[in-house]
Amino acid sequence: MTDYIKSMRKHIGHERLLLAGASVFVHKDGKLLLQKRKDNKCWSDHGGGCELGETVEDTAKRELFEETGLTANKLELLGVFSGKELFYTDPNGDMVSNVNIAYLCEEFSGELKPQTDETTDLRWFGLDELPENISPPVKPALRKCVEVLSARQKMTIRLMTIADYEQVYALWLNTPNMGLNALDDSKDGIAKYLLRNPNTCFVAEKSGEIVGVILSGNDGRRGYIHHAAVAQNEQKRGIGTALVNAALAALKSEGITKAALVVFEKNDEGNAFWEKRGFTTRPDLVYRNKQLCKSPCLINKCRNDFPDYMKRLI
Ligand SMILES: CC(C)(COP(=O)(O)OP(=O)(O)OC[C@H]1O[C@@H](n2cnc3c(N)ncnc32)[C@H](O)[C@@H]1OP(=O)(O)O)[C@@H](O)C(=O)NCCC(=O)NCCS
Repeated sequence: MTDYIKSMRKHIGHERLLLAGASVFVHKDGKLLLQKRKDNKCWSDHGGGCELGETVEDTAKRELFEETGLTANKLELLGVFSGKELFYTDPNGDMVSNVNIAYLCEEFSGELKPQTDETTDLRWFGLDELPENISPPVKPALRKCVEVLSARQKMTIRLMTIADYEQVYALWLNTPNMGLNALDDSKDGIAKYLLRNPNTCFVAEKSGEIVGVILSGNDGRRGYIHHAAVAQNEQKRGIGTALVNAALAALKSEGITKAALVVFEKNDEGNAFWEKRGFTTRPDLVYRNKQLCKSPCLINKCRNDFPDYMKRLI
């Protein structure tokens, strides 16, 4: 119990207290680390109330460390949970209305300590073998956590090959703000790109269907990203971020230290996405380019190999 709660209880006794707190679900290899709480003997994630002036992220990290011995190296916001489902009465009669900010942690370090003042056990549970006696106020956040992790588990990120072209092209055609080029984005153009950059282009696949793509490559000095797209019905589930992470890790492993990309100025959502992923703008630079050959003659050279929909475009 935080010092703040102790002092409030002196004034209000057991009356319902509005309580802001943070909690952490630790995930590794498809398993969640849960703790058995000493007070209600139920399984729970790791968390507690904020101290006065403490940020919720610091609360999450502090509570995780106190209750498990683990240090969170990265926290991802799962959601904010509130309302009557988070009403709770402590075994000692104290009533609370929790507002809980729940995080997912997949990058952590430290040694597990299975027993603390507040816990009697710590155990890893597979997502499909979670215990039944979950602490009631934890249930909404746990549902969300399982939903997010299950969606991710079914999605795989793998290297793109030219056999993916038709599905990928259809995805680009259905994605707003894609600047498709009849030459570079033809099957020949993409085959050429993949040949040159065989280890840095990725697709996201769900049940055999391609739901996301990212092209990235390098010229030996800089990395460049093109045509990142996620199917509209699969957006905002972390697929775009997973594709970016895969591309950046692959570029890094090829010795590249800086990556760039272009986005249409009016693509507010796209620009916000890249900004959040750390891609800043360079107001001191002007993007310039020059056509090196007239595309129509090149296109005509390989026109016969183009699929019908491509022939219609040129
Ligand atoms: C830009 C684009 C690739 C992003 O793909 P995405 O799969 O939606 O991206 P993510 O889900 O990883 O991230 C998008 C947001 O959803 C959030 N999100 C991720 N999982 C979530 C979940 N389970 N619940 C709620 N929000 C979630 C992310 O935190 C992120 O928000 P933030 O940017 O405020 O941090 C996709 O919107 C797209 O295809 N846009 C059209 C094409 C385009 O503009 N491409 C970029 C220009 S080249």
